[in-house]
Amino acid sequence: MCGELTKADIGKDVKLTGWVDTRRNFGGVLFIDLRDRSGKVQLVVNDKTPKEVMELAEKVRNEYVLQVEGEVIPRSEDTINKKMKTGDIEVLVKNLQILDTAQTPPIYITDNDSSNETVRLQYRYLDLRKPKMQKIFKTRSDVNQIARNYLVDEGFWEIETPILGKPTPEGARDFLVPSRVQHGNFFGLPQSPQLFKQILMISGMDRYFQIARCFRDEDLRQDRQPEFTQIDLEMSFVEKEDVMKVAEGLVKEIFKQIKGIELGDFPVMTYDEAMNRFGSDKPDTRFGMEIVDLSDIVADSDFNVFKNAVKKGGSVRAILAEGADGKLSKKQMKNLEKFVQIYKAKGLAWIDLKENSKSPILKFISEDEKNRIIDKMGAKEGDIIFIVADTDEIALTSIGQLRLELADKLGLIPEDQFNFLWVTDFPLLEYDAEEGRYNAKHHPFTMPVLSEIDLLETSPDKVHADAYDMVVNGVELGGGSIRIHNQDVQEKMFKALGFTHERAWDQFGFLLEALKYGTPPHGGLAFGMDRLIMLLLDIDNIRDVIAFPKTQNHSDLMSQAPAEASLDQLIDLGIQLDDTF
Ligand code: AMO
Ligand code: AMP
Repeated sequence: MCGELTKADIGKDVKLTGWVDTRRNFGGVLFIDLRDRSGKVQLVVNDKTPKEVMELAEKVRNEYVLQVEGEVIPRSEDTINKKMKTGDIEVLVKNLQILDTAQTPPIYITDNDSSNETVRLQYRYLDLRKPKMQKIFKTRSDVNQIARNYLVDEGFWEIETPILGKPTPEGARDFLVPSRVQHGNFFGLPQSPQLFKQILMISGMDRYFQIARCFRDEDLRQDRQPEFTQIDLEMSFVEKEDVMKVAEGLVKEIFKQIKGIELGDFPVMTYDEAMNRFGSDKPDTRFGMEIVDLSDIVADSDFNVFKNAVKKGGSVRAILAEGADGKLSKKQMKNLEKFVQIYKAKGLAWIDLKENSKSPILKFISEDEKNRIIDKMGAKEGDIIFIVADTDEIALTSIGQLRLELADKLGLIPEDQFNFLWVTDFPLLEYDAEEGRYNAKHHPFTMPVLSEIDLLETSPDKVHADAYDMVVNGVELGGGSIRIHNQDVQEKMFKALGFTHERAWDQFGFLLEALKYGTPPHGGLAFGMDRLIMLLLDIDNIRDVIAFPKTQNHSDLMSQAPAEASLDQLIDLGIQLDDTF
């Protein structure tokens, strides 16, 4: 391969194939950089090259595909290129064949190409020729193999589950595929292999894994795609610690092999602790700035905003931005107020500890309250305290998000650090105020903490789940749970979710039926493969780690999917389009 040649090959005759990366013609001497996925090597065509080969070489343009034969020769001292892996040598061309010609590409095929992403995605095959992109997919391939080897060694079997399944909403919207054979019926693409992997446990497979494609028709964000990949696993006769151990072991193995990093054991934090300290169920623990509860200090304050929040059962939460005084302009401070409003906070109070403290709330709170706040925060001159008063959820979430925003603005987040942790004991359900009912926080098959099962009927919001998320640097990398393995508990769960018996059986009947025939206690987890690759390679756009990704409006700009179906296809499927919707 082009990029593999070294000094040790000097004197050898080689045959190379690849793309023309650059060519320079000095009249009589021609240099061509030939590129394949291993890298680049310089070819020389000069008076030692046969005349007809020289003539052919002169016709060569960028991105032509060549096959050359030649001899590896040393470069003279002054032409050694230290920046190039093969910079010590070059290949003196003796024979050359143009395997294919190429038009001038619409993007530069180099790592520092700055073409906009639309063009890159439209010409994805050219974009993927860039060394940086090829490295991503090599790493992705390696991670697949490491995961397979590790899990097979741990006794897992790789089993495929259907892509054409039954529409069973799991949280997001399903993608539907119409059936030609049964007009009016639809397949749903799997949001994850969840039900099938549980059924594989009932089938006695004991340990299953799959590198599984999942489909969720949801709005895209920086780390979401409608079609993404999970490393999905499920185990029988286990408790949550067993699943966490295997999952943690897998991530450690991947980090060791890909990055040469030995990760220490992952700390475990409950959901409540994560929320109270960081205002997030996926806390970024690479920096401090932890949330402090000021409720007790201001419960009887003359400042109604604070007092009322506490009185109504909410709280007053604060963070300390050390040394932030003078680093944030008036406008930036105003923007921070708008920022917390995104998370439903009604306002943002702050105390800037200059010589004479500055703050919009000093006129409302007493000197004693001020001093107790400063004391509890451990604040000193030059720091700024930020405070939100609201319901617990809004106060914690908004101040937690502000914590991330400030850390970013103040440059507090260390690079090249991986702070893994487990978050456990999630609430089993979450209340949907709009719909006036509870939804499963994870999914409807998650086991409630056994000692709390009776609360399902009386105060469902107090029940915790036997679930766990793997979190790193503020990102949810994976999540899973112990599953309900008896029908009785499953029915209770459906009841708490407001499912009628009929609706539960209609949607999940095959699982409920299977649960009747001897179900082992089981549990599992799934990693987001795309997010794992982003993390390993420090990439912040999920589209860069997927060979053929979708854009914000769910298009593949290269193949132009989705597209209209022909009338014949629609007739076959028994579908008539109604453009009045
Ligand atoms: P969950 O829905 O938490 O769990 O998904 C598991 C992991 O998949 C990744 N992920 C995504 N990645 C890219 N784009 C998306 N749209 C997307 N959605 C999720 C995340 C997430 O942590 N069946 C359960 C797992 C189980 O209980 O075993 C499940 O799918 O990294
Ligand atoms: P107001 O009287 O509503 O203008 O509030 C005066 C100041 O109180 C504002 O400038 C904010 O700094 C602060 N404030 C208002 N609402 C809240 C809230 N919910 N949480 C924290 N601070 C608030």
